[in-house]
Amino acid sequence: MVSSTLSFASVLALLGVASAAPTATSPIYPPKTTSANFRLVANVTANDLSPSINNFVLSSYHVGAGEAFAVLVENVTATTGRIFYVNGTAIDVRYSTSNILSDEGSLLFPAGVSINPADASGEQTVSINSGEGESGIGMTQFPDPISELRVVGGDGFYACNNALPFGSAVQVLSKAQGQATPAGCADITLLPQCSEGSGLAHPFGQITNCYADVAGIDWTYYSTD
Ligand SMILES: *[C@@H]1O[C@H](CO)[C@@H](O)[C@H](O)[C@H]1NC(C)=O
Ligand SMILES: *[C@@H]1O[C@H](CO)[C@@H](O)[C@H](O)[C@H]1NC(C)=O
Ligand SMILES: *[C@@H]1O[C@H](CO)[C@@H](O)[C@H](O)[C@H]1NC(C)=O
Repeated sequence: MVSSTLSFASVLALLGVASAAPTATSPIYPPKTTSANFRLVANVTANDLSPSINNFVLSSYHVGAGEAFAVLVENVTATTGRIFYVNGTAIDVRYSTSNILSDEGSLLFPAGVSINPADASGEQTVSINSGEGESGIGMTQFPDPISELRVVGGDGFYACNNALPFGSAVQVLSKAQGQATPAGCADITLLPQCSEGSGLAHPFGQITNCYADVAGIDWTYYSTD
């Protein structure tokens, strides 16, 4: 009697261990931490450019006073790329009406991320212009297991080697629902890497989920969705 009770208990224990172990049906996601500031790192999900743009960081390509396109640049030092934050009230974040800002200039005035209207070929470039940017551009929220930049009503991002006014650059574009990525462009996600701030206080800066080291995430081990 005693020994059969024990073996039943051991079987339960074994089942418990088995169900806690990662399996194909219980995905594990890369661990997140939180920060008020982050850089955005491109994770190429299809059709990488040559040379590769994987782990390039989001920066700005100035085309006029206070006007810049969002581009990707190779990450050279820990300070390459712009520092961003989510601006809004908790309600703004909850209802996806927050905006994404970055400080710029010696006076550290805000520049915001916005999506430009589609051109004749349906392409929507992304700007980082002085001002508030655009409501509805934010970071994915719980229960999404991944933290990434997203546009309400959009379908992610892609990047292309484009000719810009002062020379070519890897330009970031926003994808509309149902839009195919143009040939020669790479599908990307923009993942937040926790960062120090600019030093300026942000009264409506929200704490955001971010990754300690995006380039170090082993996607053969972690799931996306
Ligand atoms: C990052 O890229 C890898 C390789 O393409 C892919 O397997 C993974 O799903 C991507 N993760 C995210 C969150 O985009
Ligand atoms: C850029 O590279 C530096 C130096 O290797 C590294 O510490 C940092 O995490 C990278 N930054 C981003 C945003 O990937
Ligand atoms: C930041 O968010 C607050 C709260 O919604 C808003 O009042 C303010 O205008 C925003 N600031 C900028 C620069 O967008």
